[in-house]
Amino acid sequence: MVKKNTCVFISGQGTNLKNLISCSRENNFPIKISLVIYNNRKANGVLYAKKFNIPYVFINTNIKNYENKVLLNLKKYNISFICLAGFMKIISNKLIKNYPNKIINIHPSLLPKFKGLNTFSRMIANNEKKAGCTVHYVNKKLDGGNRILQKIFFINSNDNESILKKKTQKLEHRAFPEAIIKVFRNI
Ligand code: GRF
Repeated sequence: MVKKNTCVFISGQGTNLKNLISCSRENNFPIKISLVIYNNRKANGVLYAKKFNIPYVFINTNIKNYENKVLLNLKKYNISFICLAGFMKIISNKLIKNYPNKIINIHPSLLPKFKGLNTFSRMIANNEKKAGCTVHYVNKKLDGGNRILQKIFFINSNDNESILKKKTQKLEHRAFPEAIIKVFRNI
């Protein structure tokens, strides 16, 4: 199997990155993590790239035309697929146009509910019964692209934000690899 060269974009802890790296080391997983892009110097997730000898590039996404540097690096590493795993920057049209239907994101809610930030506090305030995560394609609308896969759990009455986050992340670590397999099965 020829694995697709994939770039993972991160801004934080990188637990999803870590999980994807470990999946991608399996023979029959469809992607190879060939590059990590991060936009936060304090992103701990970069340590996983270092540990597994994966090239990593810091990009300051606050500067004008930062996408040019992103695109140059994607080209350099022959990247054909992109996973956003906790990347705290809205992906611009310039990148979407260059990678149509090739960028996917993981979001900690059951989209279309709770797009954007602070999902867990809003769920609690809204007295939600269910929570979960969604893997979806990235398009021009924030958290609005076609959904690939969702995983759901029922919220207990004593679940606070940090418990919801833990439970969601546990599901994310199953959802992201499954979604990637689903994407490549359909191509
Ligand atoms: C995840 O909860 C994901 O849903 C959201 O950002 C978080 C990233 O977590 N988009 P990590 O950096 O992979 O640990």
